[in-house]
Amino acid sequence: MVEIGNELAGKVALITGGARTKGQGAAEGRLFASRGATVVLTDVLDEEGERTAGEIENAEYAHLDVASESEWDAVVADVVARHGRLDVVVNNAGIARMGQLVNTTLDDWNLTLAINQTGVFLGMRAGARAMIEAGNGGSIINISSVAGMVGLFGSSAYGASKWAVRGMTKIAAKELGKHGIRVNSVHPGFIDTDMLAQGNFDDEQREKLARSASVGRLGVPDDIANMVLYLATDTAGFVTGQEFVVDGGWYG
Ligand SMILES: NC(=O)c1ccc[n+]([C@@H]2O[C@H](COP(=O)([O-])OP(=O)(O)OC[C@H]3O[C@@H](n4cnc5c(N)ncnc54)[C@H](O)[C@@H]3O)[C@@H](O)[C@H]2O)c1
Repeated sequence: MVEIGNELAGKVALITGGARTKGQGAAEGRLFASRGATVVLTDVLDEEGERTAGEIENAEYAHLDVASESEWDAVVADVVARHGRLDVVVNNAGIARMGQLVNTTLDDWNLTLAINQTGVFLGMRAGARAMIEAGNGGSIINISSVAGMVGLFGSSAYGASKWAVRGMTKIAAKELGKHGIRVNSVHPGFIDTDMLAQGNFDDEQREKLARSASVGRLGVPDDIANMVLYLATDTAGFVTGQEFVVDGGWYG
């Protein structure tokens, strides 16, 4: 029986892209820690990451460029050496270089795939290897997007990476189920974080984005964190290989 309120007691969770205090990764870190987990927030923004983790009891920060195989191996080995286990990996780090097909440079394409797709591959692989070795099972949650559910106009590289994450999740779930490891993808709609701010939307455009959701508002990081928490815990013990859209009713 899962104890509500303390669902992640004794578990160790690694979250990528968790530095920005207004980001989804940090929200997940705060929620996980409040439910008993030891949280390792990682990112390439070291100063912000240290500050964000420092504000969460039971959290620490580690530098991890998700596109780097050697950094993944080193960080996961260090987490397991110091905490004895790794139970949850949230592959949340991402960049959004938006642009139509004919305007997308090869550099933008390669960088987007390196972080958003290869980063998830490396994260699932490093996490799964550690979880198999420890023999405790685990949960891997990959943050895709509604851009991985539909053909979103102007998302040539970003959409490709997010569709890839959706498929990679299902394949990994098939392979890892026998080890007690569940793998699911979460597909946020428009969430009010620094990433959305980088789109430089004016008030009218933000209002339009908000109205495009059935519930008539932009999402907040906790909207996503609540779904990620569910998938991380044993409450979701029979749930794997699935995609979870959290978008206020934009898709569908
Ligand atoms: N905000 C939205 O509307 C929205 C919608 C759908 C999906 N998403 C996805 O949600 C996830 C979290 O985004 P967010 O909205 O919290 O934005 P965010 O910009 O706050 O978070 C993304 C984080 O990823 C980090 N990052 C970038 N490159 C990295 C690398 N190479 N290695 C490690 N970390 C790296 C950034 O430094 C940042 O902290 C992303 O995968 C994003 O694609 C966001």
